[in-house]
Amino acid sequence: ASTTVALNDGVETPRLGLGVFQVGPDEAAAAVRTALQAGYRMVDTASVYGNEKGVGRGIAESGVAREDVVVVTKVWNDDQGYDATLRAFDASAAALGLDYVDQYLIHWPRPRLGLYPQTWRALCRLRDEGRVRSIGVSNFEPEHIERLIAETGVAPAVNQVELHPGLHQGRIRAFHADHGIVTQAWSPLGRGQGFLSHRAVAAVAEAHGRTPAQVVLRWHLQLGVVPLPKSVTPERIRGNLDVFGFELDAAEMDLLTDIGDGYRVGPDPSLLFDVS
Ligand code: A2P
Repeated sequence: ASTTVALNDGVETPRLGLGVFQVGPDEAAAAVRTALQAGYRMVDTASVYGNEKGVGRGIAESGVAREDVVVVTKVWNDDQGYDATLRAFDASAAALGLDYVDQYLIHWPRPRLGLYPQTWRALCRLRDEGRVRSIGVSNFEPEHIERLIAETGVAPAVNQVELHPGLHQGRIRAFHADHGIVTQAWSPLGRGQGFLSHRAVAAVAEAHGRTPAQVVLRWHLQLGVVPLPKSVTPERIRGNLDVFGFELDAAEMDLLTDIGDGYRVGPDPSLLFDVS
């Protein structure tokens, strides 16, 4: 099975990456080093996580070549707007210790501020200048993406949203399919809450001799979603990548999908409130 997927800008990107939300800088450095040495080739951070320095250190310490690692980071809400975004990018790149970033995303649309099209223009410029390879968004609803396309003619390469067997994001995934946008999943394991011990997950895991996390990650891959599981536990980090050597059948996919829909572990972007 291929471990990469082509984005709509032609760049190849891994089908699975490491998340580091709510991980301190030192722990992030260790997790990133462990992950890269285990074979991960993508790491997802954000300026608001406060661990970009640690992520950069982990990459440097891993011994894996910079050009072989896909680094994803995001512009925070307070830095939206054209000039502020360019400054925020410089700060993120400096913290990471990198002269380019592979994927730079708008973290939340914050429609009430109305700045995200200007933020998007700044991302387009960073890409044109070669400081960012691919540009994308996070927590965007189809309406927000439509506005970006209408105003700039540039569709995001990725949209990173909360997605797991308790929240399928069917409307967003269908929209992405129409526009060639790759869906990335944050909290793909449902933040470890509930889903991993659900009896449907346990049954499928047992049938395959796999862990619950592995079958949930397999569910993502077979939906065409790029999961970004977070872990700071070396054994889990390694296990979460070992998901390319087995396959769920249609009935098993349905068992996981039937767990439910609409169960969020994070904020609901469609409510259009400003998360800070
Ligand atoms: P930890 O980081 O202590 O290993 P999500 O990516 O959905 O937000 O889930 C992250 C949560 O799930 C973290 O609490 C993480 O714990 C836990 N986790 C990650 N991988 C596994 C796994 N393979 N088995 C059980 N829990 C996991």
